[in-house]
Amino acid sequence: MPRRCLIAFMAMASCLSVVVSGHLRQIPAGGLPCELFALGIATKLRVGSNSTAKASSDFGRMVTAAPEAVLHPSTPADIAELVRFSASSPSPFPVAPRGQGHSARGQSLAGGGVVVDMRALASRCGHVNVSAGGATASPYVDAGGEQLWADVLRATLEHGLAPRVWTDYLHITVAGTLSNAGIGGQAFRHGPQISNVLELDVITGNGDMVTCSRDKDADLFFAVLGGLGQFGIITRARIGLEPAPKRVRWVRIAYSDVATFTRDQELLISKQAREAGFDYVEGQVQLNRTLTEGPESTPFFSSTDIGRLAGLASKYMTGTIYFIEGAIYYNESTAISVDQKLRSVLDQLNFEKDFLFTKDVSYVQFLDRVREEERVLRSIGLWDVPHPWLNLFVPRSRILDFDAGVLKGVFADANPVGVILMYPMNRDMWDDRMTAVAGDDDVFYLVGLLRSAVVADDVEQLERENEAVLAFCVNEGIGCKQYLPHYVSRDEWQRHFGDKWSRVAELKAKYDPHGILSPGQKIFSSPASMALATM
Ligand SMILES: Cc1cc2nc3c(=O)[nH]c(=O)nc-3n(C[C@H](O)[C@H](O)[C@H](O)COP(=O)(O)OP(=O)(O)OC[C@H]3O[C@@H](n4cnc5c(N)ncnc54)[C@H](O)[C@@H]3O)c2cc1C
Ligand SMILES: *[C@@H]1O[C@H](CO)[C@@H](O)[C@H](O)[C@H]1NC(C)=O
Ligand SMILES: *[C@@H]1O[C@H](CO)[C@@H](O)[C@H](O)[C@H]1NC(C)=O
Ligand SMILES: *[C@@H]1O[C@H](CO)[C@@H](O)[C@H](O)[C@H]1NC(C)=O
Ligand SMILES: *[C@@H]1O[C@H](CO)[C@@H](O)[C@H](O)[C@H]1NC(C)=O
Repeated sequence: MPRRCLIAFMAMASCLSVVVSGHLRQIPAGGLPCELFALGIATKLRVGSNSTAKASSDFGRMVTAAPEAVLHPSTPADIAELVRFSASSPSPFPVAPRGQGHSARGQSLAGGGVVVDMRALASRCGHVNVSAGGATASPYVDAGGEQLWADVLRATLEHGLAPRVWTDYLHITVAGTLSNAGIGGQAFRHGPQISNVLELDVITGNGDMVTCSRDKDADLFFAVLGGLGQFGIITRARIGLEPAPKRVRWVRIAYSDVATFTRDQELLISKQAREAGFDYVEGQVQLNRTLTEGPESTPFFSSTDIGRLAGLASKYMTGTIYFIEGAIYYNESTAISVDQKLRSVLDQLNFEKDFLFTKDVSYVQFLDRVREEERVLRSIGLWDVPHPWLNLFVPRSRILDFDAGVLKGVFADANPVGVILMYPMNRDMWDDRMTAVAGDDDVFYLVGLLRSAVVADDVEQLERENEAVLAFCVNEGIGCKQYLPHYVSRDEWQRHFGDKWSRVAELKAKYDPHGILSPGQKIFSSPASMALATM
């Protein structure tokens, strides 16, 4: 037996020695080539079931697929070595980078392949470098792709700086959100997070390490932004920063009428309002149900408020209430005028009189607000449950039809546990050269049906409702696009990408010709599924 296979044999007991045509051959029982365990990275590969089990599922808790091994890289070069090995192997195996595994439908899994635990890179030194800028240069941060946004925030605040656009939840990785888009209440003003990236380090599906930007290897740069992990593994992102405010005046205002709600939201994200309005605009829908102080709504409302809101809901047939959530950033120096600014914004809006709720919090408390909800949900056992989430971009021209058909139609009798988000964004802040798919119309809404399955058959019921929502969109020609998309057939993916499809396919052939990367997205045939198909 050659020495390196002997080492391999010791590293992975599942490599079997068999005699094929008179020669001793190493056949890995699990499916990974034996020689993998003879590489320099062999000691960083974990094959024990404890390691693989952790990488077999995700936040959604609906899909499982076990990898053969999990790589705990110490450097990006370790990842490149793994990918290069797979790409040059006669039988390439899938490789999926995994950030926090907070996808909902198996997007970070690699059945039969290797999951790269990106978080293993998080503790290497110099993982977040801030460049404070100066008279001529704008400030930016270089962050490892594996970094949590919460840690990027902490590091940049030390310089009085912060990224401009935030997801609602900060305990997800930089590369995980950049592979999707990264949206939140600041996106109407600054675009999604991907619109704020200046440069990337990427390991392609050939195992090449490339630094790319708008000016250098631009096709790769644009491909990976919103690229669903299909073209490369992001190991560093350079992200533009702005001076960070100290405090936030945070408000919620209630509506009983959807047309007034959306009209006011669209006013708040319009060009004029981008100058002088809220710094952050989102919205939520509260379906007809007892307005309990659910963990999802943060300690925003007092019990008296909840009583009043329930009263408001019961006055109307549908019992549905909408909230606009807005925020104004301020500093010591602007503290005096924040009330005045808030007043002048609210004066233009038509919310339910007397249903204005305000809080005053630090910038960090505001940005990290969902962490508090996570603590509450964990304490009552409602965090680690299945999450059959469905996020849709709905064009402005059809949002009222969507409201009638879905929120007041499909969900008429639903009493879901979870949150429904509904807020508009401006399409002109999205760059069509990027792989990310935006909504139709100049303004489109995110409708996030973020529901949890809390009892046994809930998943099936919630998934049936999700199917009905999607069917409604198709039948009524609403033109819904999924965000954090999940499709099972090539046709559906093709429809999702629309006129971007041929470019997506070309870029895949160029940067991941063996179909190694992020097979859990199920866009292209992965080597594993091709192997299965021929078995
Ligand atoms: C509570 C909660 C709130 C959320 N709120 C928002 C929100 O407000 N706005 C928003 O936009 N999203 C939101 N999301 C969705 C979130 O952005 C995505 O689920 C994201 O993928 C999670 O990041 P992650 O690090 O867990 O990625 P993972 O789930 O680990 O990975 C996601 C995909 O990216 C790939 N990937 C991971 N790392 C890399 C890398 N380094 N390079 C290339 N590809 C990679 C994976 O293979 C996988 O295909 C939320 C999710 C949760 C659970
Ligand atoms: C796997 O996890 C179990 C339960 O946490 C533990 O008892 C066991 O020792 C672990 N096995 C290995 C090989 O780490
Ligand atoms: C931060 O700077 C150090 C020192 O120059 C460098 O080694 C490291 O790679 C940098 N980190 C990032 C994420 O760019
Ligand atoms: C709203 O909920 C209340 C209490 O459960 C119920 O009595 C009422 O019929 C519901 N209204 C609609 C329109 O579903
Ligand atoms: C807060 O202060 C910083 C620095 O003093 C400034 O650059 C920034 O624009 C201020 N932000 C707001 C919202 O006033």
